Amino acid sequence: MILTEKLIRDHTLAREEYARLLEASGDPEVRSMLSREAVRLRKLYYGDKVFTRGLIEFTNYCKNNCYYCGIRCQNPHAKRYRLNREEILDCCENGYGLGFRTFVLQGGEDPFFTDERMTEIIREIKTRYPDCALTLSIGERSFESYRRFRVAGADRYLLRHETADEAHYRKLHPENLTLANRKRCLRDLKALGYQVGAGFMVGSPGQTSAELAEDLCFLEELQPEMVGIGPFIPHHETPFAEAEAGSVDLTLFLLSVIRILLPKVLLPATTALGTLDPQGREKGLLAGANVVMPNLSPVKNRKQYDLYDNKICTGEEAAECRECLARRVESVGYRLVTERGDAVS
Ligand code: 5AD
Ligand code: FES
Repeated sequence: MILTEKLIRDHTLAREEYARLLEASGDPEVRSMLSREAVRLRKLYYGDKVFTRGLIEFTNYCKNNCYYCGIRCQNPHAKRYRLNREEILDCCENGYGLGFRTFVLQGGEDPFFTDERMTEIIREIKTRYPDCALTLSIGERSFESYRRFRVAGADRYLLRHETADEAHYRKLHPENLTLANRKRCLRDLKALGYQVGAGFMVGSPGQTSAELAEDLCFLEELQPEMVGIGPFIPHHETPFAEAEAGSVDLTLFLLSVIRILLPKVLLPATTALGTLDPQGREKGLLAGANVVMPNLSPVKNRKQYDLYDNKICTGEEAAECRECLARRVESVGYRLVTERGDAVS
């Protein structure tokens, strides 16, 4: 197929071409050409290394009400928790001992964690673990807040844009959330020198190939260091309870396309991928992913960080998750490494 060759040659396509390519994602020949090229590029820049991030889900309070998400503020059945400073530091200590050199603090948009509280936690983690990278994933904030977190020592920030299409964004989010502000946040984070992660859900209700093409164009424009994508999975207590889940195969296809667009990108094989398919994360690595993010949160809270139904790894200790993932990574010919895992320049 001509488009496949063009993408491999130019590392870019026009929006309409992306949409047409996505329409052909079921074609086994197109799939294998793209995944082969994606793997070639990831090996060129990262060899057989897979980086690992210790994910600390530190609060499931959220002031937002995204229609797809299980911890939305209007889910009265969500059992809310937040970790205190000591509990967060315990997760880091445990993780450091297991070889993690990146910690990801992820949470809902929880007003309890003011700039003051966050900067104190950031400073403490960076003082205790100066050799570790610290990633935040706590949603939309002002430029000034992002600046303060950065000065306190945060290195990276994950904020999926969820969809770059204005009309589709409106179908997934309540009125008070806007794509414009989402994009403003991502640009602010870049300007402040964070390594930035954007990303989107694959197969969110009503999503079209044209909308996914828009996501790819947006990634090209933003040039993020990291991209998180995973299939949409319905949560039984949301307005999308009855919606169909996204496709694992389309997610894998998009992982390959993104690797070709952004050859040096840090690309996780996500938990959502592993939730829909027991071999999903392995398949993700074989499609071009080079990062895994095992959970470091206390086991007693794991189930409560309930973004979607049947989420995996909610019963295992951090050490078990790490071991399990190390085996899975090796089973597909890669190697889980202990290093910060910054993007190559
Ligand atoms: N299915 C899949 N992914 C989801 N997320 C939130 N809800 C769901 C869901 N129902 C993703 C969003 C968010 C990330 C933390 O989890 O993309 O950015
Ligand atoms: Fe968590 Fe396998 S990665 S149990």
